[in-house]
Amino acid sequence: MLAVDLKIYRNSALRASPDPLMALREIVEFPDPRLRTKARPVTVFDAQLTQLIADMFETMYEAPGIGLAATQVDFHQQLLVLDVSEEKNAPMVIINPRIVDSKGSQVYQEGCLSVPGIFADVERAESVRVEAQDIDGKPLVIEADGLLAVCIQHEMDHLVGKLFVDYLSPLKRELVRKKLAKQRRNADSVAASA
Ligand code: NI
Repeated sequence: MLAVDLKIYRNSALRASPDPLMALREIVEFPDPRLRTKARPVTVFDAQLTQLIADMFETMYEAPGIGLAATQVDFHQQLLVLDVSEEKNAPMVIINPRIVDSKGSQVYQEGCLSVPGIFADVERAESVRVEAQDIDGKPLVIEADGLLAVCIQHEMDHLVGKLFVDYLSPLKRELVRKKLAKQRRNADSVAASA
C-alpha cells in the first residue's frame, strides 16, 4: 500500500514543473565517517537555512524517505525534515530538538537513506515530547507517538552521529557494511558496462 502511494506521489511530482530554486543534495552513506559528526545548534535562521530545508525536502521525497537529518547531506547543524503521512502532504521542520519526556517502548523495522536496502528492528520509546524551534526560530512543542515518534528519534540520533545499525550486534553491523560494499561494487560495474 505504501509503495503504491509513493509511486503515485513520484509520478505526480515528475509531472509538476520543477522548481528551479530547489536542488537535490547528495546523501552521505554508511560507513562514511561524516555521518559520525555531532551537529551544532542552529543559530542563524536566514534565507540560506530556508534554501537548505527546501533542498532537504526535495531530496527526502525524491529518495523516497520519510525523514532526513541535515547530517545526512553533510550539513552539521541540528535540523531535521520529515513527513510520515501517506499522502506526502505533511512536511515538518524540526530545529534544535530536545526530548523532554518519553514513555513506553515500541519495536519498528527501520531503514535509513544513508544505509540503503537494509532494514532492522529497533526498540525506541513509544511516545516522546520534543521541544524544538521552527523554521523561523520560534519555539515548537511536538507530542509524538507511533511512527512519528520512531522517525523523530531516528533522525535525532543522526544529529549526534548515531545510526540505527549501531543498535545491532557488531557482527550484524559488519554484515551490513559488507552488503553495502557489494551493492556499490555491483552498481559500479553496471555503470561501467552501460
Ligand atoms: Ni536515517
